[in-house]
Amino acid sequence: MSKKYTEMTIKELQAERAKLAAEYVQIKSLGLDLDMSRGKPSNVQLDLTESLLRVLHDSASCKAEDGTDCRNYGQLFGLSEARELFSSLLDIPAKNIILGGNSSLNMMYDAVVRAMLFGVVGSPKPWGKLDKVKFLCPAPGYDRHFHICESLGIEMITVAMTPTGPDMDEVERLAASDESIKGIWCVPKYSNPQGITYSDETVRRFARLKCAAPDFRIFWDNAYAVHDIADEPDELLNIFELMHGTEYEDRLYYFFSTSKISFPGAGVALMAMSDANLEATKKIIEVQTIGPDKINQLRHVRYFTNAEGIHDHMKLHGRYLKPRFECVLDTLDTELAPAGIAEWTKPKGGYFISLDLADGTAKATYKLVTEAGVKITKAGATFPYGNDPRDRNLRLAPTYPPIEELKPAIHVVCTCAKLAYLNKILN
Ligand SMILES: Cc1ncc(COP(=O)(O)O)c(C=O)c1O
Repeated sequence: MSKKYTEMTIKELQAERAKLAAEYVQIKSLGLDLDMSRGKPSNVQLDLTESLLRVLHDSASCKAEDGTDCRNYGQLFGLSEARELFSSLLDIPAKNIILGGNSSLNMMYDAVVRAMLFGVVGSPKPWGKLDKVKFLCPAPGYDRHFHICESLGIEMITVAMTPTGPDMDEVERLAASDESIKGIWCVPKYSNPQGITYSDETVRRFARLKCAAPDFRIFWDNAYAVHDIADEPDELLNIFELMHGTEYEDRLYYFFSTSKISFPGAGVALMAMSDANLEATKKIIEVQTIGPDKINQLRHVRYFTNAEGIHDHMKLHGRYLKPRFECVLDTLDTELAPAGIAEWTKPKGGYFISLDLADGTAKATYKLVTEAGVKITKAGATFPYGNDPRDRNLRLAPTYPPIEELKPAIHVVCTCAKLAYLNKILN
């Protein structure tokens, strides 16, 4: 096929559809069972940190540097040496870091719930006592952020993503104009799903955002801070440093975890915030828990030793993920690009590729793909309320399946995207 679909005659389009429909029947007959739906590391990646499971083996090895017995209660904000490790990794003062359990999503959920129940520093009232609470949601974005809002009755306002981050003109306009807008979700490096890293200007504009709400919070979910794949990775400005010590410092809630460094579900998560935020949060957290799992925190310190140890380890992940991303991108280039009906991101890191199809064809493509035995993230999931207004975005997650499964899976996606487009315009 050399012509774009938009350049074909009706006859040519009909012939193309007949060919693809036959191919689709043949694909279905294979009884595939492939999964490209969630951004999980593969078993090979998990095995990279296998010996982390063995670094602590007796009571003596559970003693921290300062003599703390990590098997016992204490250190509400986490093990000091683990806070130091993440401090040097993220360039955030250790005293501003709260280590939690195994999940940053859990910490984000709790942070929103605390704000609903108690308010945050600067809140005239708990958010839950207001008639309306709204969040800005750059989209396509991370579905689980949107689920937190939806489950707590927070109204979501979609803001478009651009190649340099959220549309900042719109973010500034909305944040300044409506005091019921209390927050924004940001995945500033290798965003989920587009793999976009916010430009320096975007980060600077966030650091000085004018907000109508006195208690606005930026939920800065830096989940992919060290998850580079390309040889020349993206660089993200340090927003914590930019805001620290300014009149805006309380506005930042920063999140991170080792879920995709060590083990998702058994890593270490953290939250970083200003001194005033930390003090206010402490009063609530100390009622909720006597302290986090320091044994796991110590395991991470012993295994990685320092920030460089984490960076070296992430190079192994990057080396493993590179061919997977290339496999998906090459297949999109050879199978979908010639049709001229789609575009996609080429991330330099992170866990996802975002595929924009012709308007009005994402749901139909999703249906065809899943009926052919390939699981992908549900169409619409990357938008608030699962509602992609142009019905065109699909999230591809190339990390989990072995490459032998990735190839047929992405071939199915390409075939179905073309078939869905032809079905739409010929019907
Ligand atoms: C942007 C983003 N934030 C948070 C998470 C979940 O992090 P955790 O495992 O620390 O809860 C993910 C997982 O895919 C993610 O993509």
